[in-house]
Amino acid sequence: MIGIFDSGVGGLTVARAIEQALPDLPMVYFGDIARTPYGSKSPDTIRTCSCRNTEFLLAQGAQLLVIACNTAASVASDLLRRLYPVPVFEVITPAIDQALCLSSHGRIGVIGTRATIASEVYRHGLHAREPHLSVFSQPCPLLVPLVEEGWLRRRETKMILRRYLHPLKCRDIDTLILGCTHYPLLHELIRQRMGRRVRLIDSSRAVALHLADALQQAPALLKQLKQTGQPSRFFVSDRTEAAARMADRIFGRPMQLERVEV
Ligand code: DGL
Repeated sequence: MIGIFDSGVGGLTVARAIEQALPDLPMVYFGDIARTPYGSKSPDTIRTCSCRNTEFLLAQGAQLLVIACNTAASVASDLLRRLYPVPVFEVITPAIDQALCLSSHGRIGVIGTRATIASEVYRHGLHAREPHLSVFSQPCPLLVPLVEEGWLRRRETKMILRRYLHPLKCRDIDTLILGCTHYPLLHELIRQRMGRRVRLIDSSRAVALHLADALQQAPALLKQLKQTGQPSRFFVSDRTEAAARMADRIFGRPMQLERVEV
């Protein structure tokens, strides 16, 4: 099974993109709703939670791990790769690859939680590949709660987006990485604000395409993943009405979220 974890249900944007790219493969998802948000936590706490989440998924039979949470990926990917004997995919590298492919003038913006932006993972990753790029980062801590409230088209959300995106617009970026699980739900508003000229990189789609590609190159693993014969399951460490609504909205169908103590 493909194991996927996130700090909550936002990572279902990644699970959904993977389901669309690889419809035959069962997945086991864990959303750490009891401890969300990770975006305002310290790197140590995020790493501890990431290890616990990974161990839960491995115990459920995950043969491959996808870190859907940008915040967890930005501080815990290396640690998880060292500690656990399964292939580890994360949302950051594929988004960087896409941004490098699509950027026309080498002026790239990144938005994410405070922890993701403070880690500088996107800036370092982009500069490691293309040292002359101009990278502009903007933490957007209010966007996660707005999305979780379902305020996807509200005037207040547009105002806050305008405030966050203004400095990036002023820098004349040509590409913007949506570096958070929740931002695909604001794709249209961000597109309206930034204009059609700016390419938007959705890290959930980027990792799904990258995973599909990688599995094409690894037929033995692909076969093993197909053979598990189990249905996909979606676990959460707490179950709230708001999370259940958001899960249904992301998948466009009623989701069965199973609560577990982890
Ligand atoms: N899943 C987190 C991310 O992608 C956003 C929510 C949180 O802060 O936990 O960065």
